[in-house]
Parts: sequence; structure tokens; C-alpha cells
Amino acid sequence: MAAFTPRVFSGIQPSGGLTLGNYLGAMKRFVTMQDEGKFETVYCMVDLHAITVWQDPAALTRATRELCAGFIAAGVDPSKSILFNQSQVAEHAQLAWIFNCVARMGWMQRMTQWKDKAGKNSQNASLGLFAYPALMAADILVYHATHVPVGEDQKQHLELTRDIAIKFNNDFGVDFFPETEPVIEGAATRVMSLRDGSKKMSKSDPSDMSRINLIDDADTIAQKIRKARTDPDALPSEVDGLDDRPEARNLVNIYAALAETTPEAVLADHGGSQFSAFKPELADLAVNKLAPISTEMSRLMEQPDEIDRILGHGAEQARALAAPILKKTYEIVGMVGA
Ligand code: TRP
Repeated sequence: MAAFTPRVFSGIQPSGGLTLGNYLGAMKRFVTMQDEGKFETVYCMVDLHAITVWQDPAALTRATRELCAGFIAAGVDPSKSILFNQSQVAEHAQLAWIFNCVARMGWMQRMTQWKDKAGKNSQNASLGLFAYPALMAADILVYHATHVPVGEDQKQHLELTRDIAIKFNNDFGVDFFPETEPVIEGAATRVMSLRDGSKKMSKSDPSDMSRINLIDDADTIAQKIRKARTDPDALPSEVDGLDDRPEARNLVNIYAALAETTPEAVLADHGGSQFSAFKPELADLAVNKLAPISTEMSRLMEQPDEIDRILGHGAEQARALAAPILKKTYEIVGMVGA
């Protein structure tokens, strides 16, 4: 296998607000990978993916800018990472077309996210929703990215990305696309609903009390934690004691992730505490860590021109990496004029 520059790519869809789940599950890791200095880091607002289901145009624009503000407020630094929105770099869509011709119908039909999202009415789903994983493969491979941090739910799409890379290399007798490594989030960073510890924290949950939004102010954050659902027992002193206590586990995991420690260490300190004592401490911690992010996001959101400038600059940097890889792909495929 040829040597590839260690390069991280990941994407988040601009399809609504950002939650604590996006921050702890994705953005915080993106920042760590940026700051470690072992990788070039490329982070993308995947607006072309968002429109595989209907998006109100004004809401899409707003969500894209809010996502950019969220990335920056969380610590993604546009002078260290490439930060941009997907539609500005046409190479993603161009490579996706090639991959649509490499991937097989059977592969796509097996994707569990397709089956879940299309549901019973798959005849009425968009063609884009079906082809979504081929675009995702293009996002990654147009940069020859070697590492992709994602949630567990994206693992199958990354396997498909490898299958596409392997089939392309085989079909054309080249060693051109890398076999990308997934970097899957651990269970500890999977943030669950504050109202139901068995459901993922989601921007689309009808109850706003079920989630912490990254734009929530200090009072709102504290209030949501104080009102979070719990059981009547004290905290255990070992993680085994969290079995069958999804709400308790979730709050302990959130505490550990925010404090950058382990659930074991949190329970070593807080085992035996009642929630009436633990929640105010968690609320203080959450406010300390998250209120500065929300303040910075609000500040940036008031400067849409500045956000657009950052995204435009990021798109130029992204294009500089992607264009030669797309050109080479076209040459391999035999396109005249590539
Ligand atoms: N499908 C991803 C999600 O819904 C978003 C995404 C699109 C992505 N392209 C990507 C993630 C490329 C990682 C790499 O979460």
C-alpha cells in the first residue's frame, strides 16, 4: 500500500441545532486530533448530505452558519484545521458520481441507516438518500483521508467507504485510494436524553428539556440538569452499579466527559451521593465548560459575514487538496481532458 499523509476528515450535517451530544461525541475529539499535531485535520459541514431529506433553504443557511460557529467555539481553529461547507468544493459531488458507478445496488440496500430513514415508504425517499454513503465515501477519499472519527452509527458507512476504495483500486489496477481507518467514539461519550436514559440525546426530540443545546445559556443549562430524570437511589461507588440505571449512567458519563476523566473516577469521588448533591456539582461543571462555548457561538452568530469569510477560505484550502486527487481519478478512469 502506498504511504498516505496522516489526515483526518469528518463531517457533521447542518440540519438543526447542536447539542451536548455533538460536542462530547464529535467536536471535542475533533479538537483533540487537531491539537495533537499528528494529523492534518479537515472538518466539513456536509450540506449536500443534509438535503437528502427536505431542508427549508433559510433554515439550512442558518444551520450551516451555526454549525460553523459551534465548531469554532468548541475549539476548532481555522488556522490549524480546514473548516468549510461541502457544497463549496464541487470535487465532493464529482467524485461521488464516480463512486455511484463503483458501488453496487446490493451494497447500498444493506445500509441500515438507509433502511431506517427510508422506512416503509422507500419508493418515495430521494435518490440522494439512497446514494448518501457514496457521497460520504467521496468526502473522505477526495482527501485521501486516513482516519475518520465518527459515531458508532456511521461504522457501516465507513466499511462501505473501504469497499469502494478497494473495488476502485481493483477495477482499475491501481493503488490509489487508501483504506480508511474508522476512529469510533466510545460508549462513554454517547450522550443520552435527559428525560429517558435509553434514548440518544437528539436535536429532534420534541422536549427541549431532553437535551442541552450548545447555544443554551448558563441558567438554562443548570436548570436542565437540575430537572434531569433520575432514580431515587444514591450513586454507586462502582460502574457495575450503573447497570439498569440508564439515567444515572448518563449523568455520570456526562460528568466524566466534561471533567475529562473516567466514570470510575467520578464514582470513586461521588459514590454514595444523592442526586440532590450530585446534580448541583454537575450543573456547575457543565456551566463552567459549556457557557463559554455558548457565549462565543452567540458572538460569532452576530457576524455572519465573518463566518462566510472563514468558510470561503476553508473551501479554498480544501479545494487545493481535493482538485489534484479528483484529476488523477479522472485520468485513471480514462476521462479525456482530465
Ligand atoms: N454521515 C455522517 C453523519 O450523519 C456525516 C458525514 C458525511 C460524515 N460525510 C462524512 C462523517 C464523512 C464522517 C466522514 O454523522
